[in-house]
Amino acid sequence: MDLGLGGKTALITGSSRGIGRAIALCLAREGANVIICGRKYDKLLALEEKIISEHNVIVGSYKVDATIPESIEEMFINVKRDIGHIDILVNNIGDIEKFGNFFDLDDNDWINAYNLTFMSMVRFSKKTMPWLKKSSQASIINICSLVAHQPGRYNHHYVAAKAAMLAVSKQMANDLGPMGIRVNVICPSTLKDGGWARNVKDRANRDNISYTEAERVIENEAKAKSPLDKIGTADHVAALVAVLASDISGFSTGHCYNVDGGITRSIL
Ligand SMILES: NC(=O)c1ccc[n+]([C@@H]2O[C@H](COP(=O)([O-])OP(=O)(O)OC[C@H]3O[C@@H](n4cnc5c(N)ncnc54)[C@H](OP(=O)(O)O)[C@@H]3O)[C@@H](O)[C@H]2O)c1
Repeated sequence: MDLGLGGKTALITGSSRGIGRAIALCLAREGANVIICGRKYDKLLALEEKIISEHNVIVGSYKVDATIPESIEEMFINVKRDIGHIDILVNNIGDIEKFGNFFDLDDNDWINAYNLTFMSMVRFSKKTMPWLKKSSQASIINICSLVAHQPGRYNHHYVAAKAAMLAVSKQMANDLGPMGIRVNVICPSTLKDGGWARNVKDRANRDNISYTEAERVIENEAKAKSPLDKIGTADHVAALVAVLASDISGFSTGHCYNVDGGITRSIL
């Protein structure tokens, strides 16, 4: 099926590796021009080279630190000069920079999580808005997490930032719908990709077990929770981003889509 993304331009935040990289590759495969960004410019250039060698699309690579508003300002000056148009924004940046339970986290951990995982979405959305308003196929897709609506026992700061993203995405859909801009959220469960190694290391430390043992435990736990007996990958998320960015999803906005192998307990 042609998703009609050919010639559209997508900005994917945090696309040097993990889920963001998979999304950039998937959208480029569908014919979209891609704007990729992150702090590690060498990784972005390697991805740019790969995309250009495989697909006939335009790629713009930009070094940015999403926790610093001035860095985002500078990036957008360069995007305006080089590309000058955006139809699709995928807010993917987010991380558990420090793992812990409620009592392990200090004020700075909460503030840093909010700044990286929530405020990056706000900042990129505001900067992209003038272009989205002009696009005939404008869409924002926020990469959230299953823990935003089904929290576990750890990483309360990250859960709070993702829950804020989920709620504000709904408000954005209400606000921006009349301008023709759709806003949707994807909530992945733990994937065997992206931040996987950091999840495994945290579990190994917490349970005082080896990396290999922790990897086995997390994978088995994730599979046991899923009716499909599977653990997901970044490509599962990327495929849904392409569908949501496409006009075939033109009547879908303000929704949260789980990529979780059926782990979510509610039927909504
Ligand atoms: N992996 C999972 O299991 C999972 C599950 C649910 C939700 N998620 C969410 O999915 C998103 C992507 O996760 P991932 O696992 O793919 O993470 P990842 O592999 O750690 O990739 C994160 C990306 O964000 C960029 N980034 C991080 N901090 C940044 C900053 N301050 N400024 C600019 N770029 C920054 C990184 O690039 P640089 O290092 O080059 O800056 C990288 O490209 C996150 O929002 C995460 O919360 C992931």
